[in-house]
Amino acid sequence: MNKLNILFVTGFLMGLFSCTNVSEKTIKWKSYSGDPEIERKVDSVLSLMTLDEKIGQMNQYSGNFAATGEVSDNKSGEYLKKGMIGSTFNVFGADHIRMLQEQNLKYSRLKIPMLFAADVIHGLETTFPIPLAEACSWDLKLMERSARIAAEETTASGVAWNFAPMVDIARDPRWGRVMEGAGEDAYYGSLVARARVRGFQGIEDYEDLSKPNTMMACSKHFVAYGAAQAGRDYHSVDISDRTLYETYLPPFKATVEEGVASFMTAFNDLNGVPCTGNKYIFKDILRDKWNFGGMVLTDYTAITEMIAHGFAKDLKNAAKLTIDAGVDMDMISEGFVSHLKELVEEGKVSEEQIDVAVSRILEMKFLLGLFDDPFKYCNAERQKEVVMNPEHLNAARQAAQRSIVLLKNDNNVLPLKKDVSKRVALIGPFVEERESLNGEWAIKGDRSISVTLSEGLDKKYTDSRVKFTYTRGTTLPVIDPSTRHVSTKQVPDKSDFSNAIRIAGNSDIVLVAMGEKFHWSGEAACRTDITLPGNQRELLKELKKTGKPIVLVLFNGRPLDLSWEEENMDAIVEAWYPGIMAGHAVADVLSGDYNPSGKLVMTFPRNVGQIPIFYNTKNTGRPFDEENPTDYKSSYIDSPNSPLFPFGFGLSYSTFEYSGAKISSDKLERGGRITASVEITNTGEMDGEEIVQLYIHDKVGTVTRPIKELKGFQKIHLKKGETKTVEFSINEELLSMYDIDMNWVAESGEFELWLAANSSDETNRLNFSLLD
Ligand code: NOJ
Repeated sequence: MNKLNILFVTGFLMGLFSCTNVSEKTIKWKSYSGDPEIERKVDSVLSLMTLDEKIGQMNQYSGNFAATGEVSDNKSGEYLKKGMIGSTFNVFGADHIRMLQEQNLKYSRLKIPMLFAADVIHGLETTFPIPLAEACSWDLKLMERSARIAAEETTASGVAWNFAPMVDIARDPRWGRVMEGAGEDAYYGSLVARARVRGFQGIEDYEDLSKPNTMMACSKHFVAYGAAQAGRDYHSVDISDRTLYETYLPPFKATVEEGVASFMTAFNDLNGVPCTGNKYIFKDILRDKWNFGGMVLTDYTAITEMIAHGFAKDLKNAAKLTIDAGVDMDMISEGFVSHLKELVEEGKVSEEQIDVAVSRILEMKFLLGLFDDPFKYCNAERQKEVVMNPEHLNAARQAAQRSIVLLKNDNNVLPLKKDVSKRVALIGPFVEERESLNGEWAIKGDRSISVTLSEGLDKKYTDSRVKFTYTRGTTLPVIDPSTRHVSTKQVPDKSDFSNAIRIAGNSDIVLVAMGEKFHWSGEAACRTDITLPGNQRELLKELKKTGKPIVLVLFNGRPLDLSWEEENMDAIVEAWYPGIMAGHAVADVLSGDYNPSGKLVMTFPRNVGQIPIFYNTKNTGRPFDEENPTDYKSSYIDSPNSPLFPFGFGLSYSTFEYSGAKISSDKLERGGRITASVEITNTGEMDGEEIVQLYIHDKVGTVTRPIKELKGFQKIHLKKGETKTVEFSINEELLSMYDIDMNWVAESGEFELWLAANSSDETNRLNFSLLD
């Protein structure tokens, strides 16, 4: 389309809402912005639309209707030709999207711009660590920045709506999608959720959405998707309202408070009602209680899936249930586009319901500035400039360094100093693995350019006194596409075992890189056995026999069962999937150029039998005391209750001593505040960072309370030998909870708190009470 045409199109659109005189809102809808001028514009466009056009706006497709220019005759092509696609997702590139937008404008009568969307979960082309990993940095600024960079790259590439953040709390590492979230804790997850929304949307207020480098965020999946029974994706969720309110809703609520522009439904049924058709969560909670004015989109084919759920008898019925629940846009199902008109004509759905949904969609298009310029986000020059620029790559490297968690480091076997002479046996399928390093959700991240561990080490240790000898040792098991299970036909590969053992035997130290192939976590990638896949542990057992110290570096997307490894390895480094700069970041940590600071945001169990296991559990009436074991207590006969690595745990090459814990008063008045403080000293040999955590336990409540809850944290940098005082302020709000009547109150009585290095650290405990 040439410049003149563009001017014509945008001029036409501007004309639409200036010449139409609609002074009052014609329908009742609560807008997202609350801006009367925007509402007026929305109304003016709406008043020109036919019912078909309105329903078309509520329809979203995956972008395969015009791969190279011409609109194909498949279903989506047909709808496009009728101007009946409001949004398209997972298409990229300034030029490509420009072409698609041109097609849309050419065909649609009113030339309403299409809204392009995508899953940019952890970076567009500059792939950052998977969200679970990044959350282990406990660095909210860092997460906001990585989301900002994702927005910079994405909005230059044509897309202005992101299907992120995923803010589902997850307590079950069998569930493959734990890799997309911020772990198990609602308080922490809410802070991360806010940071990501700020990063994507740049929110000071709704006007930020109109900037050319910000995009709409989408809180997903509403709600409790992470509570899938038995850790199996899409499985039913049956939880109490209390658990819903205490654990699964808070991060979503936090994003509403942060100004998130959209929500996505979840696939699961919640207490018998599929979320996509669930009035209770969308109407009662999201719209009425939280006053959310943004738009709601279904997840992929989620309308159709209500038939399989046994909740809708056919697609028409499913479409009605969905719009009745207050959902505005249908991703893929074609439930709206195929049946809403009929439902309106039959009087089963009112045109007002349609108008409300369309208004919300149009509002977003106005706020993003698409009516002013439908090609606003198609800036090929800016795309070239920003995508994977050196500053972004550097940020990705920093994020990856800070996401890595040092789980074990006996006898300071790490760091592997460049100036100390060492022969290192470098073994394992992840030494040269490249494809997995971006994790499952790296939508546009080029898997062929991520830096491997081997490349990172080469670069780091050139001209050093450390010499590496490499062999792969073993291969990773594969998933058989015909059964969708781990292949039983594949013979475990032991052909390189003897070579690996020989190389290990001739070394001073063994560095082993193992893990899960990237598609072993993510959507529909759940496991019942969360040990290292295949015969990796078997190889470790052989290597152990050489008697050499072994450092295990892990690349994976979920907490694993590392019980044997924890007992037998000398050091364990959890690198997760670190993204495009993987090898450099891991080498930074292994060499000590970066002193690891990450701490876990999800508990590592000792075995799958302990799952679900999370730190903020209840005490029960018969708590088991490991030090003083007695019968008929809440315990297992074949495993301790405690996790292998608790929430909040992570080591550094430095050591941090906590001392002088004190509280300003052991009595908190209503409306007042007290402070708890502790001194932290870096007693190690290197400068480093410590994440100091505040946990609180409400000892007696009108309902039972968790044994402790995270209520604050600070990540501090301490030079070698330096001491800093860390202070936390405690007030009524911090102690509030849903009482027996589900009122949000702080109940008077006794509390205890911990100023702790992790959730199992009981050392610095203090007591106080909240007065009546
Ligand atoms: C299904 C996933 O559940 C959702 O998170 C994603 O945004 C959509 N597919 C679109 O890719």
